[in-house]
Amino acid sequence: MIVCVCRRVSDREIARHARAGMDFDDIQFELGVATQCGQCESCARDVVAQCSATGPIAAIHLCDGIRNSQAWNAQPASAQG
Ligand code: FES
Repeated sequence: MIVCVCRRVSDREIARHARAGMDFDDIQFELGVATQCGQCESCARDVVAQCSATGPIAAIHLCDGIRNSQAWNAQPASAQG
């Protein structure tokens, strides 16, 4: 799932970098996540915290703001009537 719409950065991409030992600032610099509108920052930080090399392995739970976003819940044009 895309976490940062502005930079098209997915949770998997963030998680992969976090598991490699990068912290949020490193990931932000590397991927550009949360460098434009900033709406994704808390979700991106949550993903980093859940996937950091020092933390336990856990499933990724995105915040409600991203999960319920209109952009990602919109029906494809072909599926609309
Ligand atoms: S959604 Fe990530 S900077 Fe805008």
